[in-house]
Amino acid sequence: MEFIRIFFLFSFFTLTLSQSSIYDEMFHPADEYSFPQLPGYDYHELGPYIDQRTLTVHHKKHHQGYTVKMNQALKDWRKQEPQNDLARSSIINILQNLERVPDKWRTTLQNNAGGYVNHIYYWVTMCPKPGDIPKALLKKIEASFPAGMSEFKNSFTTASLSLFGSGYVWLVTDDEGSISIISTKNQ
Ligand SMILES: [Fe+2]
Repeated sequence: MEFIRIFFLFSFFTLTLSQSSIYDEMFHPADEYSFPQLPGYDYHELGPYIDQRTLTVHHKKHHQGYTVKMNQALKDWRKQEPQNDLARSSIINILQNLERVPDKWRTTLQNNAGGYVNHIYYWVTMCPKPGDIPKALLKKIEASFPAGMSEFKNSFTTASLSLFGSGYVWLVTDDEGSISIISTKNQ
């Protein structure tokens, strides 16, 4: 869950993370997290880049499954350790402190809460009608990739095609504001 420790820059597209309530929920404690709906678009609307069947599988199978299993693990943990403050905190805080999660629930939460959170990032960083890339992001890309956007796109594509099995490729920034492309396996 390395990505949790670094601030996610922002989307390529115009839909900013802060505009989406499904993004906000994971930062707040909840007795049970809801299965998020797609943020303002339907399964068929990201074509021809992502087809309806692919989006449906990721949402209705993957994301829903992760949500159910994450909620069950949280419920069990909180019931067995009612005084544990970490258990009662937000799912993002729990993922940021996985080493403090008891062995009994750690892997289950890493896999399922990781899948829950990563799919939210997936949904909120896409939209059917992309606008201009924010100037601040363009500047950062040009600073990190001397050949500009084409170099960035090639690097991102290469990283994506090099990822074997399941996982994610992220555009991230560090505390100094430098951006980079990283890959994480599985959840
Ligand atoms: Fe998925």
